[in-house]
Amino acid sequence: MRRIHGLTLLVLTGAVLLAPPLRAIPLDASSKKGVVVSTSSLASEIGASVLRRGGNAVDAAVATAFALAVVHPEAGNLGGGGFMIIAGTGSDPVAIDYREMAPKKATEDMFVGEDGSIERSRIRRGALAAGVPGTVRGLALAHRLHGTLPWKDLVEPAARLATDGFILTEDLASSLEEALKGALGGFPSSRKAYGKPTGTAWQTGDRIILADLGKSLAAIAKDGPAAFYEGWIADRIVATMEAHGGLIGKDDLRGYEARVREPLRGSYRGHEILSMPPPSSGGVALLEILGLVEPLELRKESPDSPRTLHLLTEAMRVAFVDRARHLGDPDFVDVPVAKLLAAERLRSESAKIPADRARSSASLGRDLLAPPDEGDETTHFSVIDAQGLAVANTYTLEAGWGGSLVVEGAGFLLNNEMGDFNRKPGHTDRKGNIGTTPNVIAPGKRMLSSMTPTIVRKDGKVVLVTGSPGGRTIINTVVRVVLGALEFDLGGRAAVDAPRIHHQWLPDRLQVEEGRFSEATLAALRALGHRVLEKDEQGDAHTIMVDPKSGVATGIADRRRSDDAGVATGE
Ligand code: DON
Repeated sequence: MRRIHGLTLLVLTGAVLLAPPLRAIPLDASSKKGVVVSTSSLASEIGASVLRRGGNAVDAAVATAFALAVVHPEAGNLGGGGFMIIAGTGSDPVAIDYREMAPKKATEDMFVGEDGSIERSRIRRGALAAGVPGTVRGLALAHRLHGTLPWKDLVEPAARLATDGFILTEDLASSLEEALKGALGGFPSSRKAYGKPTGTAWQTGDRIILADLGKSLAAIAKDGPAAFYEGWIADRIVATMEAHGGLIGKDDLRGYEARVREPLRGSYRGHEILSMPPPSSGGVALLEILGLVEPLELRKESPDSPRTLHLLTEAMRVAFVDRARHLGDPDFVDVPVAKLLAAERLRSESAKIPADRARSSASLGRDLLAPPDEGDETTHFSVIDAQGLAVANTYTLEAGWGGSLVVEGAGFLLNNEMGDFNRKPGHTDRKGNIGTTPNVIAPGKRMLSSMTPTIVRKDGKVVLVTGSPGGRTIINTVVRVVLGALEFDLGGRAAVDAPRIHHQWLPDRLQVEEGRFSEATLAALRALGHRVLEKDEQGDAHTIMVDPKSGVATGIADRRRSDDAGVATGE
């Protein structure tokens, strides 16, 4: 199936054509010259045009990430943070942690009101919800380590896109309208940046110009991350904080560092799995779940059989208890990663999984209770170049449109990532709040994440690049894609399209994608004791699979979230 993005409509109606050059963007495409797959065909195309100019996967990833900050404002960002895994044939893999951190003035009970209740509205939107943004330093660090083209050439396409404007897809037009009717419309700076200048409603096919964002991107293109963390953009962020009761100061911005971390390494059926270490819980949980199910030979039955789904759910339950109990920022707490992932432990926990009944979550972690709700907007993209160097990047503002607050004069949204910390220290309750120590707020600390950018290698060569949005469902989405490929030998498209499930220990229920499993399967799961809940589509896993023999990479855009997802190649 092929899709044509919005620019085509402009050509057909004879209007102005904008950079980049027009190309038809497919949902699946294969090439030996590299592939970019993201939630936006325009952003994929900007990344692929970097590959065609001789840039490598990291160059393309940087350009794609900046482009997504323009064309996918719900989650693409300058004011958020994320994680990136970079790996190629024979090279040492690298994990880049550009997660937001708590400002210096943050306190562990900053979201607890005088009456002791958690102030959810202050977590959801506005200045106090924002962690110190990491994206610009993170992308700059990736570029410094592995980039080959000049930085400004990678940022300028996004700056032009913002300044010249781009055409709204149906999804973005309706998402904008919904956001403007809600929290985004409540902040004058956000209305100014994203409202339609005529005051009427945005329509599919309208051109949106993001002038202040274009200025910020042009400054970052010219002066690098210093423009954002020390220059006039930093002044704007601090002024916005002062006007809206936020905590981020100049010293927080100046002092923010993206970190190089050692990727977590595991194995599955002779493949090497590379994923994100803490402060994301993604890699630990992914490797735990894979380690727990590997001895169970899931392939004895189909990927969607009650047995497969039951055993997988029980593995998820174990990994998510451990997540709640142990995981947080490793610079602040001692996370027992090696102990959690020890082969012997995983084997013995695997042997404890009953074949014939669901366990109760409370019995596995009676002393801990359910984690709080998360938003559902993040975005993942995957890149590979002609040399087999791959990038898996997941980044976010936390909720869709982050905290809904645009930095006045700088045109970008701030995250609301502070809500990923445990909100009320020492307080756990049956309603789903937890206050366990590892993920309690502290100045300079990074909040626990579930983002799971992942690269799989076989005999040293990259064979799979994946990741997803979706809060804690991210981990289980990545599990399904990895198992689809490595356990069930599904092709890439089938592994991405396979129906997804999610169990996160508490609440004690098994979420399954609505309408994707037969009534008989759901009845069998209920008979085993699972509380099954049918929910919307889960995740958005833009994935690359590589045939190790031919070296041909196939990008597989996930159809679940965007009407504009697409693959672009280096051809
Ligand atoms: O870091 C995390 O795990 C969350 N802030 C991610 C939020 C998310 O994925 C929302 N997405 N769709």
